[in-house]
Amino acid sequence: MPATSSPSVPSPRFWALVPAAGSGSRAGEGPPKQYRVLAGQPLVAHTLAAFAGVARLAGTLVVVAPGGAAALAGLLPDASFILADCGGASRAESVGNGLAALAAGGAADDDWVLVHDAARCLVTPAAIDALIDACAGDAVGGLLAQPVADTLKAADAQGRVAATVDRAGKWQAQTPQMFRLGLLRQALAHAGAQVTDEASAIEALGHRPRLVQGGAQNFKVTWPEDFALAEAVLAARARAAAQTV
Ligand code: CTP
Ligand code: MG
Repeated sequence: MPATSSPSVPSPRFWALVPAAGSGSRAGEGPPKQYRVLAGQPLVAHTLAAFAGVARLAGTLVVVAPGGAAALAGLLPDASFILADCGGASRAESVGNGLAALAAGGAADDDWVLVHDAARCLVTPAAIDALIDACAGDAVGGLLAQPVADTLKAADAQGRVAATVDRAGKWQAQTPQMFRLGLLRQALAHAGAQVTDEASAIEALGHRPRLVQGGAQNFKVTWPEDFALAEAVLAARARAAAQTV
């Protein structure tokens, strides 16, 4: 990774960090979901292709499970992608370890880091660029998110509706989530290993991340039926791209 001290290096820089060290326990049988084949390629290859389409990124660090680097052999789109087999027991630990690797490799505390779930394989370069455009001038940073569409119910212990929750003003958090490297490391160290996204760690320090609308297609492949849905979206995009050339 290039050092930050050269005067020719633009500051701050933008990095991406893709945690891909999970086991996919909700996704059913088979290998971890990020390695299941979707439209002819492992799921994570689609995710990385989107980041390869964002010219402003200085580099993308992909965090895999310890000893798991071979699973990504040949799948990194170009030399700006870096593999680190420093995955942890929780997503927050994998991200924390990846941030430490970025810092050790020369990323500066005021550089921006876009953390993105490997399992969100339908993210697009345009959506990533939109997040950068919206947050690069922001004091805190922010995240892609989607306003809640359905009526929300709170459940009781018997699986019955305890209450209807007003959906107005509620958003589903997506990724990428974009914060300064130094602030994010401090926030995750403070929040502990159980936080499920970066924004909640930043919020716990008293900050208010910016919400940037991401789109319904940027869902996280989580359940067995999500693979077919993601594959259908990829196929539709491929058809649309073939028609425009
Ligand atoms: N992740 C990670 N390290 C972990 C757990 C999760 O890098 N210890 C990554 C996953 O690979 C995924 C992203 O974080 O790309 C979002 O997590 P999630 O969708 O919850 O994936 P899994 O934890 O693998 O799935 P599950 O919760 O169903 O077991
Ligand atoms: Mg998980």
